[in-house]
Amino acid sequence: MDSYNVCEKTLISSDEIKKRVSELGCQISHDYKDKEVIFISVLNGSFMFTSDLMKEIHTLCSVDFIQISTYGNSTQSSGDFILKKDLSMNIEGKDIIIIEDIIDSGFTLSNLVEFLKSKNPASIKIAAFIDKPAKRKTKVKADYVGFVINHDYFIVGYGLDFSQKYRNLPYVGILKEHLHS
Ligand code: IMP
Ligand code: MG
Repeated sequence: MDSYNVCEKTLISSDEIKKRVSELGCQISHDYKDKEVIFISVLNGSFMFTSDLMKEIHTLCSVDFIQISTYGNSTQSSGDFILKKDLSMNIEGKDIIIIEDIIDSGFTLSNLVEFLKSKNPASIKIAAFIDKPAKRKTKVKADYVGFVINHDYFIVGYGLDFSQKYRNLPYVGILKEHLHS
């Protein structure tokens, strides 16, 4: 249960997350069985998804981290980003999969994809834990999606935050209105 009582509703339970992440791992392992993939985990939100997903990958892979900070307020991004931590690995000629926590407007990811393209990887795919298409403003599309949420809820948990809090919840829930307004 919600020990802090911060969510008005649980949307995705911890068991549902485990099952879906395992399915995604199988799918990616199958698609990349003859290739070596580099996962690019977008900090901070995707740390938990990255960790669980990688345990379900049964092919050769490695991971690197990138951290960007987007302009905007705490519940909406404008997409323009400042690079806070660049990759450590050279991805030129490599097959990469970006691991993102959530796609909302899509600004963050479309800018990130353009930035990573300039490093000349062989291919770029996107794995998003949550796809929230209701407010999409760009053409960006994830290749692997954990869950689609068709409402404009502000959700927290499993890495997703509000002002850096609530990332530790093992499930995804709708944050109580008064906590983010
Ligand atoms: P976008 O640029 O609008 O696609 O926003 C993506 C970023 O906004 C994500 O990486 C999250 O950090 C944040 N975000 C968008 N919606 C939510 C939400 O419902 N809960 C928590 N963070 C969110
Ligand atoms: Mg965030």
